[in-house]
Amino acid sequence: MSTLEDKYRELDEKNQQASMGGGKERIEKQHLAGKLTARERLELLLDKGSFTEIGKLVKHRCYDFGMEKKKIPGDGIITGHGKIDGRLVFAYAQDFTVFGGTLSRANADKVVKMMDMARRMGAPVVGLNDSGGARIQEGVQSLAGYADIFHSNVKASGVIPQISAILGPCAGGAVYSPALTDFIIMTKESSYMFVTGPDVIKAVTHETVTKEELGGAMTHNSKSGVAHLIGDNDESAMMMIRELTGFLPSNNMEDPPVKPFSDDINREDESLQDLVPDDPNKPYDMMVIIESVADDNNFFEIMPHYAKSMITGFARLAGKPVGIVANQPAFLAGVLDINSSVKAARFVRFCDAFNIPLLTFLDVPGFLPGTNQEFGGIIKHGAKLLYAFSEATVPKITLITRKAYGGAYCVMASKHIGGDINLAYPTAEIAVMGPEGAVSIILRHKVSDEEKTKAVEDYRKAFANPYKAAELGYIDEVIYPRETRKKLISALEMSQNKSVSGPPRKHGNIPL
Ligand code: HXC
Repeated sequence: MSTLEDKYRELDEKNQQASMGGGKERIEKQHLAGKLTARERLELLLDKGSFTEIGKLVKHRCYDFGMEKKKIPGDGIITGHGKIDGRLVFAYAQDFTVFGGTLSRANADKVVKMMDMARRMGAPVVGLNDSGGARIQEGVQSLAGYADIFHSNVKASGVIPQISAILGPCAGGAVYSPALTDFIIMTKESSYMFVTGPDVIKAVTHETVTKEELGGAMTHNSKSGVAHLIGDNDESAMMMIRELTGFLPSNNMEDPPVKPFSDDINREDESLQDLVPDDPNKPYDMMVIIESVADDNNFFEIMPHYAKSMITGFARLAGKPVGIVANQPAFLAGVLDINSSVKAARFVRFCDAFNIPLLTFLDVPGFLPGTNQEFGGIIKHGAKLLYAFSEATVPKITLITRKAYGGAYCVMASKHIGGDINLAYPTAEIAVMGPEGAVSIILRHKVSDEEKTKAVEDYRKAFANPYKAAELGYIDEVIYPRETRKKLISALEMSQNKSVSGPPRKHGNIPL
C-alpha cells in the first residue's frame, strides 16, 4: 500500500514531467533559435505568479506510429488563466518542445475547453502559437481538433477579445484560428504564417520565395494585412499584448477600462493652430493631432505598416479608451483605397463590438482612381467601411481638418450615417470634389484659362470651407484647432450613455 508520502511524490513527479515539456535538450534548441519556451512566454505575458494551469496532465490518446510509447503530460500545449494588470485573461501556449507543438485531438480539446470557459467567464483569450501544425500521426482527429477550435473562435468573436501571437511556425489550415481572432502579433525573423509553404509553391507555380518573404512578420504587417503588430522578439510581443489588452473591455457587455489620468481635459495646443497648411496640396502629419489630443500624447497604433494613408489605433481621452480612425494626408494625400478601407472597416467593427467610442479624423481627397482599384473591387471594399461606420452604434465623433470630398465625406462617419457630433476646423473643405476637378467638369466646354481660373476661385470660395455644411447642420460646430482635445472630450462625455437599437434581424450582410 502506498503511503501518503508516495502519493505526494507521484504528484510532484507528474508536475515536474509536465513542466519540463520536451526536455532540456529541446528547450536549449528553442533558446538557440531565439525563442522562449511556452512557459517563459506565459510568465512574461501575465502578472507575476498569476498563472493557473488547467489540464497540465492531459495526454494524447494516439496508438499509431508508436505514439503510445511517447506521452508527455500536457501534450504540447499549456492552457489556463492569469491576470494582466490585475484583470482576468485566459491563455494557451503551444509548446514547440513537445512533438513540435503540434495539434492532437487531446490538446485541441484543452484549447476548446479553455475558450468555452473564457466565454462563460467573459474574459479575453490570448493564443501563443508556435507549432508544426496538425499532428500527422493523428490524421483526421487533428483536423477535427482544428475545426473545433475554429468554431470556438467564431462563437467567441464579438463576445470576448481574442488576440493571437505568432512566435514560430504557423502553416496550413493552422493559420485560420489566428485569422479568426481580432489581432495578430508576429515576431521579427522567428515567426511565419502561410497556407502553403515555399516548396509547394515552387512545385505548383514555379515561384521561388523564402519563408520570410512569403509569410514573415513584415510581409503580413505591410503587404497582406493579415497581421496587426510586430514585436522585435518574444518579450516585446508579450509586452505589446499587455498594452493592447489595457484598452479593451473583458467582454462585449462591459465598458472599456477607465484609468486614472492627470492630463488636463482643458489642455489647449497652440501648435495645432497652424498645423494645416494654407496650400491645400501640401501634406502634414495627422499623427500630430492624434497625439496632441490623447492623454499624455499616448497613441497605440494598430497596423502601422499597412495602408498608411489610414491610421487606426487606440488612445485614452480623459482616462477612457477610444478607437481612432484617421486619414493620413502625409501618405498618398490620405486617399481611400481598397487596403485602407478594409483596414479601417475591420477596426471600426472591432470597436463597435466592444463598446469603444470612435473618433474619426478626416482629410481625404476621395477614393483612389484607377483600373487596379476598380478591378480589385474598390466598390465592394469601400462599401465595407461605409457599412461598418453606418452600423456602429458606439458614440461616433468626427472632426474634419481639411478635405472631405465626395463619397469619402459620406463614408467617414458623416452626420448622415450616424455621427453623433461632427466638428470641423475653419480649414475644412467639404464638397463633391476639389475646385480644379469640379471646374474641369462643369466648365468642360469653356476653354479660356482666365474663365477657368476665376471659376476655380469662385468654387473655392463657395465650397472649400466648412460653412455650407455648418449652415445645413451637417457640421455641429466649427472649432479652433487649439481646443481640439477639450471639444472631443466634451463630445465623448456627452455621448457616453448613448443607446441605439436596430431592427430585429439575424445579421446584416456586409459586402465581404
Ligand atoms: C508530427 C511533427 C510535425 C507534425 C513537426 N513535428 N511537425 N510531428 N506532426 N506536423 C515534430 C518533428 O518530427 C520533431 O520531432 C519536432 O516536431 C520538431 O520538429 P523539427 O522538424 O525538428 O523542427 P524544425 O527543424 O524547427 O522544423 C519545424 C517545422 C518542421 C518547420 C515545423 O517540423 C515541419 O515542416 N513540420 C511539418 C509541418 C507540416 O507540414 N505540418 C502540417 C501542416 S498542414 P522530434 O521528435 O524529432 O523532436 C496542417 C493542416 C491543418 O497543419 C489543417 C487545419 C484545418
